Amino acid sequence: MLKVHNITKSFGGVRALSNVSFEVRAEEVVALVGPNGAGKTTLFNVISGAVKPDEGKIIFKDEDITDLSPVERVKRGISRTFQNIRLFDNMNVLENILVGFHINYRYSLIDAFLRLPRYFIDENRARKKAIEIATFVGVSNYLDKKVKNLPYGIRKKIEIARALATNGDLLLLDEPAAGLTDVETEELALLIKLINLELEKTILFIEHDMNFLRLVAHRVVVLDYGKVIFDGLPQDMFQDERVISAYLGGEIDEDVIKAKKGERKNV
Ligand SMILES: Nc1ncnc2c1ncn2[C@@H]1O[C@H](COP(=O)(O)OP(=O)(O)OP(=O)(O)O)[C@@H](O)[C@H]1O
Ligand SMILES: [Mg+2]
Repeated sequence: MLKVHNITKSFGGVRALSNVSFEVRAEEVVALVGPNGAGKTTLFNVISGAVKPDEGKIIFKDEDITDLSPVERVKRGISRTFQNIRLFDNMNVLENILVGFHINYRYSLIDAFLRLPRYFIDENRARKKAIEIATFVGVSNYLDKKVKNLPYGIRKKIEIARALATNGDLLLLDEPAAGLTDVETEELALLIKLINLELEKTILFIEHDMNFLRLVAHRVVVLDYGKVIFDGLPQDMFQDERVISAYLGGEIDEDVIKAKKGERKNV
C-alpha cells in the first residue's frame, strides 16, 4: 500500500533522513520506533506531504504521490494524527470530528452557500457517521463538550476519531500512547486492533512504549540518526545489536525506554 523509497531530507546541516526505504502492506500494523530526534516525525511529514524530501519517492497504492499536496494525499486515503494534539479547542467533540469529513463532502461550496438539498443530505449523513465513529472510539459521551475542557486521554481519542472521519485507508499515528496512563494505553491498544481488524485500516504508528508496540505491531521499523537499522518482527527487535546500541549504548532496560516517553519534547 505504501512504499517509502530512498527518502533523504536535511534541515540545514542536520540530516534528518538518509536513504530511508521500507514498505507497509495493506492491512498491516507497522511501528516506527527510534530514539528522540531519529527522524520519525520528519518521515511522517514527508509521507503526509507537509515536508518535501530532498531525494526519494513516496508511492501510495502504486502511484507516485511525492509531488502531491497534503490535501490531495488525504483525498487519496492517507489520514494522520499529530505528536502534539491539534484539535479546535473551542469547538465541541462532534464539530471536531466533522472537520474530518469536510474533505470528503460531495457538495461544492456553492451548494453550501445556496443551501441546496445536497448540502443538507450530506450534512446529515456526515453527522450520523461522525456519531458512529465517536461511539466506535469511545467518546460518544462527550459529543457536545468543548474539547479544551476534556482530559488528555479523551483528546487523543478525538484526534483518532477525526482521522477516521477522513476515511483514509492508511492511518499515520504519531505517538498515540504518549502521556497516557497504563490502563488508557491498554485500552488504546485494543482500539488500534479494532480499527485494523474491523475497519480494515492499514496503520503506521510512531511509539516509544514497548508494551504497546508488542500488543499491536505486526512489524517494526527502527530509525536511528535518520537511517533504517532494523525492519522485522517485534520479538526480534531486541535481539538485534544495532537496535540495542542505538537504544541504550548496549544495555537494554525497557523501563528506561518507557520512562523516556514522559520527558520528551513535542515537535
Ligand atoms: N522543521 C525543522 N527544521 C529544522 N530541523 C528539524 C525540523 N524538523 C525536524 N528537525 C530536526 O530533524 C531531526 C529529526 O527530528 P524528528 O522530529 O523527525 O525526530 P523524532 O524521531 O520524531 O523525535 P521524537 O522522538 O523526539 O519525536 C532532529 O534533529 C530535529 O531537530
Ligand atoms: Mg517525533
